[in-house]
Amino acid sequence: MATSTISAGTRPRTSSIVLKTVMAVTGLIFLGFILAHMYGNLMIFGGEEQFNEYAHHLRTFGSPMLPEGGFLWVMRVTLLVSLVLHVASAVTLWRRAGSARTKGYYQRKGQWARFVKNSMRWGGVAIFIFVIFHLLHFTTHTINIGGSYDNPADRLVASFEQWWAVLIYLFAVVALGMHLLHGVWSAGMTLGLNTSLEAAERLRLAAILVASVVVVGFAAPPVAILLGLIP
Ligand code: HEM
Repeated sequence: MATSTISAGTRPRTSSIVLKTVMAVTGLIFLGFILAHMYGNLMIFGGEEQFNEYAHHLRTFGSPMLPEGGFLWVMRVTLLVSLVLHVASAVTLWRRAGSARTKGYYQRKGQWARFVKNSMRWGGVAIFIFVIFHLLHFTTHTINIGGSYDNPADRLVASFEQWWAVLIYLFAVVALGMHLLHGVWSAGMTLGLNTSLEAAERLRLAAILVASVVVVGFAAPPVAILLGLIP
C-alpha cells in the first residue's frame, strides 16, 4: 500500500502512487503530442504544398488570440514541464525499487519483468537523446542532412533521401513504440482502467494498437521518401 510516509528525521516522501500518476498523466500528454505530430508528418503524402501549409499553420494556430508562434510555445513549455516531471518521477521510483530490493525478492522477479524494466529505462534514455538530435535537425537547423533548406518539405525530403538518416529515425521510432507498448498499459493500470479481466485485456490490446499505429505512422514518411514514393 503506497502512502506518504513521514518519520522523524527524514524528509516527507511523495507517495509512489502520486509519482506513478504523474508519470501516467505526463505520458498521456506526450502521447497526445506524438499522435498529432505523426498526423502532421503524414501531410507529406499530400505533397510539398500541403506539408508546408501544415508547418505554417502550426505557427499561426490560435491567431489572433495568440501571437504568431504562440501555440507552438505553449506546446513547447507544456512538453518541457511534462518531461521534467516524467523523468524525475521515473528516477525517484527506480531508486526506491532499488533500495527496497532484497536478494530473495530480486531472484523471484521474472526475467521478462526485468527485461521490460530495463528496456523502459534504456529506451527512455535513447528517446531523450534522439529528441535532442531531432530538435537540432528540424527545429534549430543546426544539423543539416542532405543539404541546407529553409522550406520544411524540402528539408524533410533531402534528409530522408539519405539511408542512414532513415535508419536513425527508424531506430528511434521502434524505441518509442516499445516504450509506448509498456507505457500505455502501465498508465492504464495506474489510472485504474483494469477493473476486470476483460478490461485488462482491452487495455493490453489498446497498448498494442497505439504502439503499432505510432511506429507505422512515423516510419511511413521517411521510408516513402527514401523509396521515391512522395509526389
Ligand atoms: C519519422 C519521424 C519524425 C519526423 C519525420 C519528424 C519531423 C519533424 C519536423 C519536420 C519537425 C519540425 C516542425 C516544424 O517546426 O515545422 C519536428 C519537430 C519536433 N518533433 Fe518530430 N519528427 C519525427 C519523430 C518525432 C518523435 C518520435 C518525437 C518525440 C519522441 C518528435 C518530437 C518532436 C519535437 C519535440 C519537435 C519540436 C516541436 C517544436 O518545438 O518546434 N518527433 N519533427
